[in-house]
Amino acid sequence: EKGGYPHFMLKEIFGQPKSIADSMRGRIHAGNESIQLGGLTGYFDRLADASRIIFIGCGTSWHAGLVAEYLFEELARVNVEVEYASEFRYRNPVIHPGDVVIAISQSGETADTLAAIELAKENGATILGVCNAVGSSIARATHAGAYLHAGPEIGVASTKAFTSQVTVLALMAIALGRRKGTLPDHTFRELLNGLQSLPGQIEQVLRNSDRIKEIGYIFTYARNFIYLGRGVHFPVALEGALKLKEISYIHAEGYPAAEMKHGPIALIDEDMPVIFIATRDSSYEKIVSNIQEVKARKGRVIAIVTEGDQLIKTLVDFTIEIPWTHEMISPLLSVVPLQLLSYYIAVMRGRNVDQPRNLAKSVTVE
Ligand code: F6R
Repeated sequence: EKGGYPHFMLKEIFGQPKSIADSMRGRIHAGNESIQLGGLTGYFDRLADASRIIFIGCGTSWHAGLVAEYLFEELARVNVEVEYASEFRYRNPVIHPGDVVIAISQSGETADTLAAIELAKENGATILGVCNAVGSSIARATHAGAYLHAGPEIGVASTKAFTSQVTVLALMAIALGRRKGTLPDHTFRELLNGLQSLPGQIEQVLRNSDRIKEIGYIFTYARNFIYLGRGVHFPVALEGALKLKEISYIHAEGYPAAEMKHGPIALIDEDMPVIFIATRDSSYEKIVSNIQEVKARKGRVIAIVTEGDQLIKTLVDFTIEIPWTHEMISPLLSVVPLQLLSYYIAVMRGRNVDQPRNLAKSVTVE
């Protein structure tokens, strides 16, 4: 059932070209003219009229919500908040009937997310779900939603569910931007073409797995890691660090790169590996100067770069190339090498990759 792979996690990482295609299947219509999310029919007006969208989730699903914040603000110009379900539910949050809460959950059984939904519902908000498990408790508790169709995820560390969550949330943001008139035609087309090229581009990243494995080997015995990114890649930095922590038990922190000088830079010396997501997008120049700041303090830098990048190669210890795509959907590519890096490091450390200690696939108690 592992399809020839040594672990479910690796199978699921390599399954992403297909799972992402499955998440889009039947949702992008003739000649890329429209997006149809069947499960949201009847609720799309509510979404378009929302005074605010609040994404709730835990762990990796919360990271998908953070990516969605950039997407929904940029493409649909709507007011967005992203909340840990566990904090939201106990905080006496201000919720209005005009709010739309979007709950993100792979399992659909996470206790805190479910409780946060009930609270928002009692306060009159509209609740939409982005779940993988069909008929799950969260899917049933929401008014409407869009399933991931990513197929079952067995490895405890979430990989293909994350990329499918971001894919579905991107489709929602694009459809909403289209509807609200905030998304220019050329950007709309560029994003839809970009989404459709993703499965092939992920294949390309996966073909590079030997290089990622070699880099993992070099850093197998590092005691700490820092992950840095800006913009849409800040949540990817958080996700990369979480993947490494949970399966290799190495301490790792993700930070927005600009926050580094407000504290974490004190950690940097020749023993500190720092992973930058440094692709060619709107924050490229800024991230290059952050890389120089780390190198000036002798940090060892691994950078995820856009293929063909020449500059960063001359500054850092290792680069991992990924294809170019539109910035708003680029987390779907940049997260893949980070998943692989965590996987190889954990395997080389002899960890139980599919079932890391102390973790459960679905957290049904708070
Ligand atoms: C991380 C991971 C967890 C889950 C979190 C939420 O790899 O698997 O952080 O993302 O427990 O789970 P769901 O999405 O099922 O609500």
